[in-house]
Amino acid sequence: MQARCKHTESAESEAFNASSSQTPRFKPRPDLTKSADTDGRDSDCGADRTSTLNYDQIFDQAIDRLHTEGRYRVFIDILRNKGAFPNARCFAGHNGPKPITVWCSNDYLAMGQHPKVVAAMEEALHDVGAGSGGTRNIGGNTHYHIQLEQELADLHGKESALLFTSGYVSNDATLSTLAKLLPGCIIFSDELNHASMIAGIRNSGCEKRIFRHNDVDHLRELLAAEDPDVPKLIAFESVYSMDGDVAPIHAICDLADEFNALTYIDEVHAVGMYGDHGGGISERDDAADRIDLIEGTLGKAFGVMGGYVAASKKVIDCIRSYAPGFIFTTSLSPVLVAGVLASVRHLKQSSVERDGQQAAAAMLKQKFRDSGLPVMDSTTHIVPLMVGDPVRAKKISDILLAEYGVYVQPINFPTVPRGTERLRFTPGPAHTEEMMSELTKALVEIWDRLELELAQAA
Ligand SMILES: Cc1ncc(COP(=O)(O)O)c(C=O)c1O
Repeated sequence: MQARCKHTESAESEAFNASSSQTPRFKPRPDLTKSADTDGRDSDCGADRTSTLNYDQIFDQAIDRLHTEGRYRVFIDILRNKGAFPNARCFAGHNGPKPITVWCSNDYLAMGQHPKVVAAMEEALHDVGAGSGGTRNIGGNTHYHIQLEQELADLHGKESALLFTSGYVSNDATLSTLAKLLPGCIIFSDELNHASMIAGIRNSGCEKRIFRHNDVDHLRELLAAEDPDVPKLIAFESVYSMDGDVAPIHAICDLADEFNALTYIDEVHAVGMYGDHGGGISERDDAADRIDLIEGTLGKAFGVMGGYVAASKKVIDCIRSYAPGFIFTTSLSPVLVAGVLASVRHLKQSSVERDGQQAAAAMLKQKFRDSGLPVMDSTTHIVPLMVGDPVRAKKISDILLAEYGVYVQPINFPTVPRGTERLRFTPGPAHTEEMMSELTKALVEIWDRLELELAQAA
């Protein structure tokens, strides 16, 4: 069986410790590195300095650690070509932008370039200008926000929805607030839950129990061990985006019924893409009415930016009234919200993009398999290729970009556990069969060059 992996609680804390927990808060101060003869002290102000702390050295060491482990992150300088996704321009080297094909975007359905979305954003910009004018408390609810919240509530069959500035913020703000409102609440969290859910759980300050990934027997054991009268919340994802597997939603909801627990699902990698209207796996599996809170992003399949939760009127009113991550931040630009509104409305009545994505993912998996490339067992639109080493994963990614004009970034720890580093492809409706054949050929050539083993062709 493939290793299942993403943001484990331990991986998260390890990554945090490795990178920032020892880092003091930054304050502008004189350059302490320039006077080697003063043992790190600045000779200009050494007289009244009692500490020999060298902040630059601490930051350097933090970055060096990442280089040593081969997981220093490099972000590509890119512009996508509207009307021609997944084609883009890459600004590497000195010879001007170079054409590339993007294989790892989370704009899964290419809605970021959909004519209806672009037109809606243009219209909103010209109608109401750029920003929202502040928090919802100060700037008010723009009419776009209200319309989108109604549309999202309807998408999930819930009474209400609430917008946030990102999916990350919606998870963090909602989970932390919800658990604080429930006295003595215990959160039961899948071990592979996303960093934003882990942050929300941590920020709630409540007790947590971690259940093995998608393991309902383990979840049952943990639920049964607690006082029946203590509030409980089960937090999990529908599609786990690094492996591409899916949660057993009904089985988890059965346990929630039995032990009187609330349910919270992150549908970030499913909304827009699954269900007849894009309501996610909970719509596809006819389970939305069994889940108390459904969380999603507006920045992936819907192609723009933002996040939300959908739930009962009462729960949404509580989050709206108590969550600092909602209250104390400028609300999304109405231009973005108008774009999302067009996207959600379109995907509610069109399955063309969803069908195209599923067909593309199936075709790419088959091509990888036929060529003996180590494609992992994903049951969804995610196509992960196991490499198992951070340096090699980066090298393959670099060669693909420099020599083949293919962009797919390496996925390293802490996003996945060490030893399971991989390349993660997200083919969509705009990737053609010809592109897939070229990609597969390039990968096989690189596999040969790096003397990596190919499996027997399927
Ligand atoms: C499972 C999951 N939840 C939440 C988020 C955060 O969503 P957003 O990118 O909108 O902040 C991500 C981001 O990749 C994610 O993978």
